[in-house]
Amino acid sequence: MDHRAVPRLVVAVLLCLAALATGCTGATVQGRPGASGLRDPYFPRAGNGGYQVEHYALDLDYDPADGELRATAVLTARAEQGLSSFNLDFSGLKVEEVRVDGVGARHNRTGTELTVRPAEDLEKGEVFRTEVDYRGRPKPVLDPDGSREGWIATADGAVAVGEPVGSMGWFPGNHHPSDKATYDVTLTVPNGYEAVSNGELASRTEVDGGRTAFAWRSREPVASYLVTAAVGRFEVATGRTPSGVSVYHAVSPGEAAGSEAALAKTSDIVEWGSRRFGPYPFGTVGSIVMPSETLAYALETQTKPVYSGAPDELLVLHELAHQWFGNSVSPKSWKDMWLNEGFATYAEWLWAEDHGGVGAQRRFDAFLTGDTSVDAAADNDWAAFPPADPPGAEHISDDPVYTRGAMVLHRIRQEVGDEKFFDLLRGWATDHRHGNASTADFTAYAQRRTGHDLKKVWDVWLYGEGRPKAPR
Ligand code: ARG
Ligand code: ZN
Repeated sequence: MDHRAVPRLVVAVLLCLAALATGCTGATVQGRPGASGLRDPYFPRAGNGGYQVEHYALDLDYDPADGELRATAVLTARAEQGLSSFNLDFSGLKVEEVRVDGVGARHNRTGTELTVRPAEDLEKGEVFRTEVDYRGRPKPVLDPDGSREGWIATADGAVAVGEPVGSMGWFPGNHHPSDKATYDVTLTVPNGYEAVSNGELASRTEVDGGRTAFAWRSREPVASYLVTAAVGRFEVATGRTPSGVSVYHAVSPGEAAGSEAALAKTSDIVEWGSRRFGPYPFGTVGSIVMPSETLAYALETQTKPVYSGAPDELLVLHELAHQWFGNSVSPKSWKDMWLNEGFATYAEWLWAEDHGGVGAQRRFDAFLTGDTSVDAAADNDWAAFPPADPPGAEHISDDPVYTRGAMVLHRIRQEVGDEKFFDLLRGWATDHRHGNASTADFTAYAQRRTGHDLKKVWDVWLYGEGRPKAPR
């Protein structure tokens, strides 16, 4: 043996002993487990640490007759640390197999966490592909506020809605709004059914067994709570707005007559929003109108909001306003929900103001005094808590988040005047387009953009307890 090799051999043996002592299995890359949650203030276990998903390809085969879902989810993600294991959020259903980069991976489930252990550790920065085969009859996820989310079976179909944490009920993922990704959703259903998801229809193909596969594509990033899938015997209407946004409405036949007038406003709303808030953020727009008994609420699912029963014009306006506020500019955490709902509610006020209805100032005053002759909701519970600080996960969709959130915006308008205020709305939507933002990001942005010190508005209206008095 070459005498110079001896010290090297000694070093190698020592390194091996050290590795054994620290529990190293001899893998060349050293990873550690990714976090099982992102510590969201309201949903601490939602989302997962250690990686970010870039793209989801969901392949779902659904039979409305027996309610059985057979699916494969393929996640392309980037490791943000060395990973010995990582988690996905997933609830119910049966996981049949998991593969990472084509190789079978061990996995186990506790609660809503699916832990995946790849055969080899993943390196920081590595892009890896996780495939999960699963099946079963999805059960709805119960929201802390008592409403149902996730995969909702109907008499003759189904619809999926995910705010805030329902998406884990139908596909495994990093289910927190801070990790947005692009999506391909392919839905295979028996012939005679329509299947709809976000984005554009790339293809519609008849496959074996009397079935049709609908391939949908979202090119812009989507927060996972805004992903939808709907199966039904919908009436489909397509078109294009004057500025070239494609339109796709899928309407349950029983709701078609009642929906017609409101859905016909889609183009006007997109054009109006584009003037007020900057260009519409997506290439397509539309709706999914489910039978009225499906859900107790509507949801702004990206590009095609889900309605339960025929919507009216203001509801369509509200859900389409979310395409700018919530969907393109998404919250960093569920504490920032008022950035979605306050803005969508204020958009309702502005729409009325711009279309010969009640002005925002008059509506603001009506809420202050509880004058239901101006707005039927004026006596709601908007003062119950500050919009930026709901008292628990079961309150993130309560009145203060909507109404008082809108009142915060109107207070800014009163302080800075119309010109700066509308510049602020537009600037906010434009500068954070397809991103995420927090309440602190907004308050800092608003002060910078308008050049006004708005501390009193934040202290009293956004963060303050109690019922604020009329300003001045
Ligand atoms: N974001 C929806 C909207 O304002 C409402 C969702 C209500 N969800 C709930 N779990 N309460 O259009
Ligand atoms: Zn809303």
